[in-house]
Amino acid sequence: MKKIIIAIDGFSSCGKSTMAKELAHRIGYIYIDSGAMYRAVTLYALEGGLIEGDRINADRLSQAMDQIRITFRLHDQTGRPHTLLNGQDVEERIRSMEISTHVSPIAALDFVREAMVAQQQAMGQDKGIVMDGRDIGTTVFPNAELKIFVTATPEIRARRRYDELKAKGVETSYEEILRNVKERDYIDQHRAVSPLRQADDALLLDNTHLTREQQNAWLEHQYQLHACE
Ligand code: DC
Repeated sequence: MKKIIIAIDGFSSCGKSTMAKELAHRIGYIYIDSGAMYRAVTLYALEGGLIEGDRINADRLSQAMDQIRITFRLHDQTGRPHTLLNGQDVEERIRSMEISTHVSPIAALDFVREAMVAQQQAMGQDKGIVMDGRDIGTTVFPNAELKIFVTATPEIRARRRYDELKAKGVETSYEEILRNVKERDYIDQHRAVSPLRQADDALLLDNTHLTREQQNAWLEHQYQLHACE
């Protein structure tokens, strides 16, 4: 089997990261969560006082970009990949609500995308990686051997997110989550730089009616087909 690059793009809350992580684990590939990289830049900007309210100090952030280095390391105890910002483990902090609310405008800045795409491409130099995000098959690795575009109806994605939050004891309403899911879909698809779209040669995976097992089996089958070619 040859080593390949697997690009998994798609809408938010459709289980991309989980399926990408599980596939990488099963086939012995490195998993890269590109969304975590935009989250880490957002943390850097927040901690450096470069975001005040809705205002981003783009000049200072742009000057700081070459001082931001994002890497990943498997956690000793859990074996799960953790995100490091300039060598510091920030995995937990980048998942906070504060980061989630500020990350979209940061991820829309062209100089941020340019720097992250360069780091992502360097990570894929030796192949053998699964990377998930919004623009992996279109911009980061347009020549990836296997590209998947994941989708599901907004209603089912909102339902899954609602169940997940409820299981964690977070009080929220299904209607509010559905509104948020639709809003994020719109922003992701309509931003000027690298909008979310299915690459022409990507395989569509609509998991609305699939179980996790069915989805994993389909994905692994696609890997077998593409790594054997
Ligand atoms: O997948 P996520 O929610 O962790 O992504 C965080 C943000 O980064 C979200 O606003 C989408 C954006 N993103 C992006 O623009 N390009 C990527 N390749 C990955 C994520």
